Order: sequence, then C-alpha cells, then structure tokens
Amino acid sequence: MSRAPGIIFGFLAIVFLVLILWSRRDDTAVVMTEPELTEEGPVDLVAGPAVADPVPAAPDPAVTPAPAPAAPDAAAAPAAVAAAETPPPADPGPATVVAGAVEAPREVARGPGLGAPATAEEIARLNISIPPDGRNLPPGRGTSAEGALVFAQQCVACHGSRGAGGDGMVTLTGGLGTLTTERPVKTVSSFWPHATTLFDYIRRAMPLNAPQSLTDDQVYAVVAYLLSVDDIIPIGTVLDQTTLPLVEMPNRDGFVNWWPEPAAARN
Ligand code: HEC
Repeated sequence: MSRAPGIIFGFLAIVFLVLILWSRRDDTAVVMTEPELTEEGPVDLVAGPAVADPVPAAPDPAVTPAPAPAAPDAAAAPAAVAAAETPPPADPGPATVVAGAVEAPREVARGPGLGAPATAEEIARLNISIPPDGRNLPPGRGTSAEGALVFAQQCVACHGSRGAGGDGMVTLTGGLGTLTTERPVKTVSSFWPHATTLFDYIRRAMPLNAPQSLTDDQVYAVVAYLLSVDDIIPIGTVLDQTTLPLVEMPNRDGFVNWWPEPAAARN
C-alpha cells in the first residue's frame, strides 16, 4: 500500500506528458512537412503555393476521413466526385491548412539566400589584367606631353619631380644600369620587364588615393611620360593598343622570359 502514491504520481506524469505532446502535434506536423512543400515546385508568392487544393469544396481527408461521396446527382457535384477519384498526391492535411503562414520560412529553407550571380558588366570591370602581349588593352591613346600634365596634377606629390622620388617618395624613373652595382635602384625603368605591366598597374592602382579614376587615355599618356623620361621611347611617341606591347624595356633580358614575344604572339 505504501507504493500507491508513487504509482498515482507516475500515472499522472504520463498523462500530463501525453497531453503536452498532443497539444503540440500541429507544430510538429508543420516542421515535418516543410521539405515536402519545397519539393512541390516553384512557389508563386502572389498566387500562393502550388500545393493549394484545387477543389475548394472537397472534403479534407486528413481532418475528416473522407466518406464516400454519396452524390445522387453526379452533375450536381462534379467537383466532389473528381476529388474522390483523384486525391491530391501529397498529404494536404495540416500542411495545406498552414501553407499560407509558412511561405516566408520556406523560401529561407532553400538556402541562406546570400549573394547574387555576377553580371557580365561586373565581371568586365574586374577582368582588367593585361599580359605582356598586350591582350585586353583597352582602346585609347596618349603621348608624353599629355602625360606630363596628368603626372603634374595627380602623381608628383608622391613620386617627385619627373618620378625621381626623394624624401621618402616612391621612385619611378632613373636607376638604369644600377641593378648590378652595390646600390641597385629599382624602378619601373630599371627593373620591370614589360611596359604593358606599367599600364595595368597604373590603371588598377594609381593614384593611390583614387585608384581606377584615370581614363584609359590618361593612363596611356602617363605611361608614355614615364617611359620618355628615361628615353625608353622618344618624346612624341603615341602609345595605344598596338604600340605599347612593342616597347622594349631595358631590363627585359634580366628575367627568364616565359612569355612569347609580342610580335610572335600576334601572328
Ligand atoms: C598618395 C600617394 C600616391 C599618388 C598620388 C600616386 N602614387 Fe604611385 N605609388 C604610391 C606608393 C605608396 C607606391 C608603392 C606601392 C607599393 O609598393 O605597394 C606607388 C607605386 C607606383 C608605381 C609602381 C612602382 C614600382 O616600382 O613598384 C607606379 C608605376 C606608380 N606608383 C605610378 C603612379 C602614377 C602614374 C600616379 C599618378 C597617376 C601615381 N602613382 C600617384 C603612392 C602614390
């Protein structure tokens, strides 16, 4: 007899648990049927989910087990007959009832929904690398006289007069022939093997405080200016898509040249 309170308490606890699970059964049903819903095909957010019961008057088989439709006059209730003969493929019970309420979560459930495919225009804006043969050089042209103006306005503050550096500035010109000495001066002129790289670098990175703000003509011009300062091209040379890849940089043979010559690459 002393066990009676324990048995009663245990019984009540089980009843209580069953009641809680019973009261939550609809929530559980929604969660479990979500994947089914996402497989029903694209959801038109305006028109509603594709699983919507096409026959509004049809009895809901999950709520009330469908009794055989006793239709004395088939013409009077064609919808009900059709529904009984071809029930919807997926269980439209609780899921159909709550379909409207879970539309937004279903969209999220397909994936994190981050990012967007890059457009052709966005790719073109990033795809600006120029190899030594000059492929991908943009249309445009420039001379050293035009470039001198660009340099004076946008470059001299950080690279010094005629790109000669000094005072902690980055030197761009001079230094020719110093690489094998005790004090090599590495500049574009003394070090870089390809003039096309100069165009690529300036266009993408300079001026440091406003990268990619120069027009293509301005880049051609300032490249012509820097190359003419070191007599790599004569003053007055017009640089463009065709002529820039033909410029021979002084230290070109200081590198193992794995790239075909511009002329050869063109044929
Ligand atoms: C606000 C300062 C600033 C301005 C303005 C600026 N640059 Fe530069 N530039 C730098 C710095 C700093 C570097 C070195 C960057 C590095 O090594 O990563 C550099 C590097 C370069 C280099 C590569 C040098 C090398 O040998 O590696 C070139 C070429 C160049 N600048 C050209 C230009 C041109 C042309 C302009 C004007 C259109 C310009 N810069 C304007 C600060 C500036």
